[in-house]
Amino acid sequence: MNIPHIPVLLNEVKAAFQGIDEGVIVDCTLGYGGHGEALLEQNPNIKLIGCDQDAEALRFSQKRLERFGERVQFEHDNFSNVIAKYRHLPLRGILADIGVSSLQLDKKERGFAFDSDVLDMRMNPEQELSAYDVINRYDQDALEFILREYGEIHEHKKLAQLICDARAKAPIKSAKELSKIAEKVGGKKKIHPSTLLFQAIRIEVNNELGVLSTLLESIKNADLEHCIVGIISFHSLEDRIVKQTFKLWSQNCICPPDVMRCMCGNNHAIGKLLSKKPIEASAAELKKNPRSRSAKLRIFEIRRA
Ligand SMILES: C[S@@+](CC[C@H](N)C(=O)[O-])C[C@H]1O[C@@H](n2cnc3c(N)ncnc32)[C@H](O)[C@@H]1O
Repeated sequence: MNIPHIPVLLNEVKAAFQGIDEGVIVDCTLGYGGHGEALLEQNPNIKLIGCDQDAEALRFSQKRLERFGERVQFEHDNFSNVIAKYRHLPLRGILADIGVSSLQLDKKERGFAFDSDVLDMRMNPEQELSAYDVINRYDQDALEFILREYGEIHEHKKLAQLICDARAKAPIKSAKELSKIAEKVGGKKKIHPSTLLFQAIRIEVNNELGVLSTLLESIKNADLEHCIVGIISFHSLEDRIVKQTFKLWSQNCICPPDVMRCMCGNNHAIGKLLSKKPIEASAAELKKNPRSRSAKLRIFEIRRA
């Protein structure tokens, strides 16, 4: 079987979920099943719910994980729905490896690559909104907002203007065309100018920050007694959400900072942070898989009992 994706931080993920010897682990981003397979092998008594919004990835993993039989259940959905759906089960682990898989990036017809002939970027091809709609139909203010907030692009106004000028002549139909426009504004030397633009558009198309927040909210609301939560993110905006949420989950006092005396009952923590700092790829992994360079894993242990 030719496996199109190398799982990032595999040893670190295995270590995080090592002690789990019963119940269910939810892999919110099953992808090509690399993490899922390792967890099924390492934790022989657990069941795995493998969720992905990309049917192509799920089909691949169904074959890859066939040998585990009924220990695996597949879920074609957005991960923002999966925890609420299964909260009645004994969930002991939740993993999310958020981002685009190598296959999604490499398959030109998915439109994630700079040299694609289409403008798409939908992780779930059944969804309506695509990069084409964002680039050709959003008004200039909305484009500026996305470029500034999701791409942190210094020259967001200039780039939004260039996009609007170009599409006034003819619709922008491909990632290639879009990439050429991005090159006109330059950017930070080390980062390809299209990188930030494509990141921004991808976040908008897939509502990446929104679904991450909903996932974290759903985990908290599930009232789980004991569960390890590991989230791998690939850009600072996502990592910030994970960091702030885990910090909040570990705090007993949730009073506003200006109150003189605690009024909240001082009992709001739902567990503890297991990673004070984000876990990043080792030099050996970076050498083997350059795509691991921006991966950050944060781990939280929910323990209410
Ligand atoms: C980086 S890959 C995961 C790779 C996987 N851990 C492995 O070892 O093969 C990310 C996967 O998450 C999926 N994904 C991203 N956001 C999602 C969401 N909101 N809901 C469901 N799946 C999502 C993508 O379709 C992609 O297949």
